[in-house]
Amino acid sequence: MRKPLLAGNWKMYTTVQEAKELASAVVGAAAKVSGRDVMIAPPYTALAAVGSVLAGSSGVLLGAQNVHWEEEGAFTGEISAAMLRDVGCAMAIVGHSERRHVFGETDFMINSRIKGGLQSGLIPVFCIGETLKQREAGNTLKVLEDQVRAGLAGVEVTDGSRLVVAYEPVWAIGTGKTATEAQAQEVHAFIRSLLADMYEKNIAAGIRILYGGSVKPENIDILMQQDDIDGALVGGAALKAESFERIICFQKTAY
Ligand code: 13P
Repeated sequence: MRKPLLAGNWKMYTTVQEAKELASAVVGAAAKVSGRDVMIAPPYTALAAVGSVLAGSSGVLLGAQNVHWEEEGAFTGEISAAMLRDVGCAMAIVGHSERRHVFGETDFMINSRIKGGLQSGLIPVFCIGETLKQREAGNTLKVLEDQVRAGLAGVEVTDGSRLVVAYEPVWAIGTGKTATEAQAQEVHAFIRSLLADMYEKNIAAGIRILYGGSVKPENIDILMQQDDIDGALVGGAALKAESFERIICFQKTAY
């Protein structure tokens, strides 16, 4: 019942021209498969241009890399959900580990961003993940539970397809170290059970949980074979058309 979602987080990369070219290649790649959602999140400067490339029937969704909770106001450096909707965004990444760890975003801010995004009709891609230190101390599930409960506190979800959770172990981001499929599946099943505790059963069952952290053509198939992995949030490998195409075209057949 959950449609796989393959999402590319372009982080602070691409000029407008590069973004348009990459977006066109993604549109071509996405046309080769069906039954899965594809999203790309370029930097803010390229959103409008990429929005134009995707407009119409490309089937590729536009995402932002963050979203502010107010509609407008004196918030220098921030972008509102209404502004993102205006350039064609359907989704917004929220709580990425780089926002948490490099820019000091708190659970409270992340919770507000999720609420603001949902209110304006954006689908939040809510990121959570433990650091290596937390994992080695045996605290992974506790850390994730705290992040999920704080991030979703008071967040009403009436349709599971309107919320996406992305599990991105901090130690796997940009390091080339992927969680094994068994490690990822264990955590995803745990997140699924948490969501089932917080929301009605059928709603929780519709929330997609993505894995992120060094996803590449070589590991996408085995990750997607896990019961509770509904897709991927891809960084580096989403910046190259060929590797993102291979990820979009993952195959779920048994090894
Ligand atoms: P990498 O795929 O480069 O490890 O980045 C993952 C990520 O942070 C996606 O949001």
